[in-house]
Amino acid sequence: MCGIIGYIGKQPATPIIMDGLKRMEYRGYDSAGLAIIQSDSIACHKKEGKLGNLQAELAKYDLVGSVGIGHTRWATHGKPSDVNAHPHNDCREEIYLIHNGIIENYHDIKTALSAKGHTFYSATDTEVLVHLIEEHHKTLPFEEAFITALNEVVGTYGVVAISSKEPNKMMAARLGSPMILGIIGDGEYIVASDVAAIMKHTREVVYLNDGEVCVLTEGGYEIKDLKAQAVQHTIQQVDWDFTQAQKQGYPHFMLKEIHEQPDVLMNALRGRVKQEEGLAHMRGFLEQAERLQDTKRVIIVAMGTALYAGQVGEYMIEEYAGIPVEVESAAEFRYRKPVIDEHTTVIAISQSGETADLIAAVKESKLKGALVLGLVNVVGSTIAREVHAGAYCHAGPEIGVASTKAFMAQLTMLALVTLHLGRQRGMSVVMGQRIAKELLAMPEKIKQIFAQEKAIAKLAKEYSQYHDFFFLGRKYNYAIAYEGALKLKEVSYLHAEGYGAGDLKHGPIALIDEQFPSVVIVPQDSVYEKVLSNLQEIKARSGRVLAIATEGDTHVADIADDVIYIPKTLEMLTPLLAVVPLQLFAYYVADTLGRDIDQPRNLAKSVTVE
Ligand code: F6R
Repeated sequence: MCGIIGYIGKQPATPIIMDGLKRMEYRGYDSAGLAIIQSDSIACHKKEGKLGNLQAELAKYDLVGSVGIGHTRWATHGKPSDVNAHPHNDCREEIYLIHNGIIENYHDIKTALSAKGHTFYSATDTEVLVHLIEEHHKTLPFEEAFITALNEVVGTYGVVAISSKEPNKMMAARLGSPMILGIIGDGEYIVASDVAAIMKHTREVVYLNDGEVCVLTEGGYEIKDLKAQAVQHTIQQVDWDFTQAQKQGYPHFMLKEIHEQPDVLMNALRGRVKQEEGLAHMRGFLEQAERLQDTKRVIIVAMGTALYAGQVGEYMIEEYAGIPVEVESAAEFRYRKPVIDEHTTVIAISQSGETADLIAAVKESKLKGALVLGLVNVVGSTIAREVHAGAYCHAGPEIGVASTKAFMAQLTMLALVTLHLGRQRGMSVVMGQRIAKELLAMPEKIKQIFAQEKAIAKLAKEYSQYHDFFFLGRKYNYAIAYEGALKLKEVSYLHAEGYGAGDLKHGPIALIDEQFPSVVIVPQDSVYEKVLSNLQEIKARSGRVLAIATEGDTHVADIADDVIYIPKTLEMLTPLLAVVPLQLFAYYVADTLGRDIDQPRNLAKSVTVE
């Protein structure tokens, strides 16, 4: 979603800000802008569309100044346009501000400020905040005006502001939207909503907590709460390898990240899986070992792709650990009245660790007394810091908006959690050893699927002529059918529906004809015969079928129109293989159609608003 960056120091601010915005491009955005403090005024430029438009605009000006802010916007209130892009300014063009999140009481504030003579130029909720600071700045210094205004808004924010009246100061704050301070050196700082924008300059960071304000000057930095009381923070080192955040010869991040999955899987297993003992050592859970052992019920909460990983996890944990599991969209969970007690463990799964609905679900679960565990990819993210205990997914930076390698890491982590919980309960050592052995064999099996990539690309080209698709699967691959459909719609913009193969005849089958193909996941598992019957039902109605089947299964090839093979594995681990051809299929359909694969329209990488 939106990206925020602010720089204060001695170097020219513009190139640093533009570079930071470029590094946050992957998050998804529709307009961009920046504001730089000049000697006694602030120069601001904003453009709808990609950063190239802003860059072309900036080329017309000679922007000096070593204090500035920049923003990539993903529209919430007000359509994408130059005028709605950030930074936003007050009536006197003295204060400029960038904001992620939503000011929920913007309408009331706007009405009150309009009555006091403020005039508004944009359709955004953000603009009211800068006018509110302006109103307080009439009687208070900038810092106090900023904090006072934040105390009056309801909603979420990651916000950075500058004032031409106090040109050596920058104010930043967060509430429900990430904000990280990067310490470059004495008097030189960068604030951003994403470490990707900071890494080039420093690895020393301070993660602001909700309700904290950061005052930056060339003389140093201070962190305060919303009552303006000083707060102590420790400086942390970020150890992500950001060379990974480059395409390294691949045409798109999505394809590169699909190909990274054997390594990602290995990284998630490393140091955790003990084949001889048939165990998974989850060091991150150690502090909560007793409560985890005592768990009577698990609730998995997540959104989107991570939610589908959770659904696979539900089947794994119930079958092998015998603990009842529910899986729920965090967006639903946060607003109903879930029954939770101290014997409930809530597992929050997230790539970014910043998904707004999931943060709310985590807080609600903690409040109700559950043990809350996190399976999170981004180190130091809000959810990683908010949970009682957790284990990082170690997928590395995921840049493609459509999640692929993070999903693989999530499935792997859930298999490890299953092994961990299962062995604490009824699972035999032999079963534990089988799961561990098979997990360790998985990277090689994924590589075998890559050997069919050319054939998958060819099929994808053929199938790209259709406009509608079903993705069907059962049991462990039920959720994979949904994930396959989600991948296709995200990057190709074609209509795709995930369904349980057994659900098809209860209505959706009415849609099947020769123009409505189905991708059917039919590995040789405990529901093989059932899915095969579902496949026959489609063929009987002239529907084209692309099957994802187990290597050597010639019977499927006789019925389906096209087949992609995956290696044989344990039933519970088939999702880790079945998803790979679906990711490649989505990628190559989108590529054939010439889509913007890494930044699909309307999508954001990290959904930091409700
Ligand atoms: C789909 C996708 C989204 C995310 C969802 C949760 O490809 O990326 O559906 O999975 O927005 O995001 P995280 O995992 O960051 O909480």
